[in-house]
Amino acid sequence: MIVGVPKEIKRDEYRVALLPVGAEELVRAGHRVLVEEGAGLGSGLADQAYEKNGAELISSAAEVFGQADLVLKVKEPLPVEWPLIRAGQVLFTYFHFAADRPLTEAILKSGATAAAYETLRDDQGRLPLLTPMSEVAGRMSIQEGAKYLERPQMGRGILLGGVPGVAPAHITILGGGIVGANAAKVAAGFGADICLLDINMDRLRYLDDVMPANVDVLFSDRHTVREQLQRADLVIGAVLIPGAKAPRLIERADLALMKPGSVIIDVAIDQGGCVETSRPTTHSEPTYIVDEVLHYCVTNMPGAVGRTSTYALCNVTLPWALQIANRGIERAAAELRPVARSINIMGCEVTNQAVATTFGLPCSHRFEG
Ligand SMILES: NC(=O)c1ccc[n+]([C@@H]2O[C@H](COP(=O)([O-])OP(=O)(O)OC[C@H]3O[C@@H](n4cnc5c(N)ncnc54)[C@H](O)[C@@H]3O)[C@@H](O)[C@H]2O)c1
Repeated sequence: MIVGVPKEIKRDEYRVALLPVGAEELVRAGHRVLVEEGAGLGSGLADQAYEKNGAELISSAAEVFGQADLVLKVKEPLPVEWPLIRAGQVLFTYFHFAADRPLTEAILKSGATAAAYETLRDDQGRLPLLTPMSEVAGRMSIQEGAKYLERPQMGRGILLGGVPGVAPAHITILGGGIVGANAAKVAAGFGADICLLDINMDRLRYLDDVMPANVDVLFSDRHTVREQLQRADLVIGAVLIPGAKAPRLIERADLALMKPGSVIIDVAIDQGGCVETSRPTTHSEPTYIVDEVLHYCVTNMPGAVGRTSTYALCNVTLPWALQIANRGIERAAAELRPVARSINIMGCEVTNQAVATTFGLPCSHRFEG
């Protein structure tokens, strides 16, 4: 197979879909690997590193799309890329179709197969190609929170860990899933005083067992959330109800409970956010202030730490990319259920029920189960 890796062109996107070691693995398995010049630069990966490992450098995205049977990407194809996509070609990337009707229509029209990272589900119901980005965002939320609590960034002027004789910051984390647990772990390392809230009792029992002593694990209800807001210097929004908009846990009136200069990092903003006053921001303008509370609501946090995110993403995508390249998409889907579940569109038909329902389109159930 010819495997193509175009350079990502979305704003603030520094990741790339393949590491040099991935190029070597694919070439060793008998495939040709075409990498667009400069594709890895945002992640500090030079063209020569790919070339040394058997990839061929290509000067334009048009040529990569023109030749590749399997295109590996990070973000969804943008409108300028749509005309380059060919019938029969397989695209393996994040699509998030439900948020983008024109993209759905463009891929349907193209006749290409869309295998989406976000719906590749294993037999335990986990989404292994989403997990590493939640790990990155969770850990990064504390780093960003620490920065925006500094006075020159308009924060309260608080050091997360305090110093001997001065209390550490109080951090409230709403949601104890992957983002929340990773945030708690990093915050604990800073020496902050942390409360981690969730509604899933099994999850709370697990977190209670594994978290360090400076993390208290609490059941999340309206009273506890309001009580926490009065204490918190930093609030991390990390809730998720799969397939639904994030539940709203903080209303505008609740901001009055918070201390001036406190910070909210709403990681759940990509699902609408769990704070009424949250609205999506970008890395170029990440924050704004409402009622003296600083809000940070960047929708693609991992993009800022492109190198770490590229490694974290490629570690989990490469094994599947190899399976698709080695078997071809039809056989990979027939033999590997996670691959079948990743396919959202094939042969001008939607094959994912959630995408079909969102847009009122017919759904082929050939990959169900
Ligand atoms: N902004 C970004 O760049 C970025 C990056 C990665 C993930 N995310 C988002 O972060 C969010 C969390 O992702 P995750 O991987 O940790 O999900 P997850 O499913 O692992 O965890 C979500 C947790 O929220 C809990 N929850 C649900 N309702 C709750 C409530 N009312 N109160 C308290 N807890 C509640 C669930 O029980 C679960 O434990 C998602 O919206 C995800 O899309 C954003």
